[in-house]
Amino acid sequence: MFYENMRSIVGDGMATCPLAKHKRLRRLAQPAFHSGRMTGYARTVQAQVDAVTATWRHGQILDVLPEMRSLATRSTLATMFCRRDLGPEVAGLRRAVTDFVDHQTILRMIAPGLNRLPTRRNHRYRESEARLLRFLDEEIAAYRRDGADHGDLMSMFTTALDSDRLSDKEVRDTAMTVLLGGITATAVGHAWALHQLSQDSALDAEVAHEAQAVTRLGQGHTAADVMARLPRTRGVVAEVLRMRSPSWIFPRVAVTDTAIGSRRIPAGAQVLLSPYVLHHRPDLFPSPEAFDPYRWDGRDPHQVKGWLPFGAGESKCIGYELAFMDLTLSLAGIIRSWRLLPCPGSVRPRPRLHLEPHGLTLRLTERNQR
Ligand code: HEM
Repeated sequence: MFYENMRSIVGDGMATCPLAKHKRLRRLAQPAFHSGRMTGYARTVQAQVDAVTATWRHGQILDVLPEMRSLATRSTLATMFCRRDLGPEVAGLRRAVTDFVDHQTILRMIAPGLNRLPTRRNHRYRESEARLLRFLDEEIAAYRRDGADHGDLMSMFTTALDSDRLSDKEVRDTAMTVLLGGITATAVGHAWALHQLSQDSALDAEVAHEAQAVTRLGQGHTAADVMARLPRTRGVVAEVLRMRSPSWIFPRVAVTDTAIGSRRIPAGAQVLLSPYVLHHRPDLFPSPEAFDPYRWDGRDPHQVKGWLPFGAGESKCIGYELAFMDLTLSLAGIIRSWRLLPCPGSVRPRPRLHLEPHGLTLRLTERNQR
């Protein structure tokens, strides 16, 4: 039911299409997320972090979530479209993506009809959506015409695989799914990571030290090399995704009669699965309420049973490797030069489309000024 509703927002993309269609869409989109492409994406992410943090000033109070949305929007657009410099167009495009993404709440996902009510906010949303769709249609046509690999997601979405390829409509729906799912979840992950480091100066110093020692990409180092040299930063990211799992709930349908514990689940039943609840089970994660990045020392979170921030199975997040790398490199890129200090007031998890840190503001302190 949830995904059928979402279909009116992001079309028939991978996350929302009927099961029968999913396997083919997934197979055709998968090459865009191949490990071999990560170094190119990592370079793009680092450039966007540099551009955003270059606007920051010592002593500034940062409204963290909107700032991280802006960073995630920039990084996602830049990893999707490298065919040409988007020039002055990019500011309007970023605004349209932000309007589109900000508008979607869990309530609107459950009741998409709300988007059609004649309110000023909805009018603005529809304009942004129309602008985005126009842009996507023009870009898809241009990528098809030129047929080159620009090292971005869009080149791969428009390429044929085994003489089959995504149709223009399928590319458009895939792109909308990536924009909606990727941007909000990544931004929330960034924001929680900065919150956690603001609370613990020793941990913050450790991450800063690690980040300052690491060679930047573009000097013969791959994304995997740089990631390997950031074990503490990776631990922080894994722990943020455990403790503040951005995707706190998602639905599944039982394909056959089954049982979970003592409960019988008949075929066709809708089940809500909460990674948040799973991640706070003391039998799986001892002292689950403690933020402890050291629990990941020497462990690959992707291999740990019960750690499911990206879901599992055939529809596990297709962007999980890219997302984990983006979170790690962005955090390292920020913390290398900035200490973010807490401001008065409490920060609470707010379950929206993703689990947001409500009330999070931080004061920027430039490290070399301290
Ligand atoms: C911290 C960041 C992210 C989190 C926590 C996250 C989490 C998730 C989750 C929980 C799902 C549903 C999995 C399931 O049903 O089992 C999902 C699906 C998906 N995600 Fe992500 N995601 C993130 C970032 C991204 C990024 C960066 C992209 C693309 C660039 C992306 C693209 C997708 C797509 C296309 C799907 C649908 C996959 C399918 O149904 O086969 N996500 N994500």
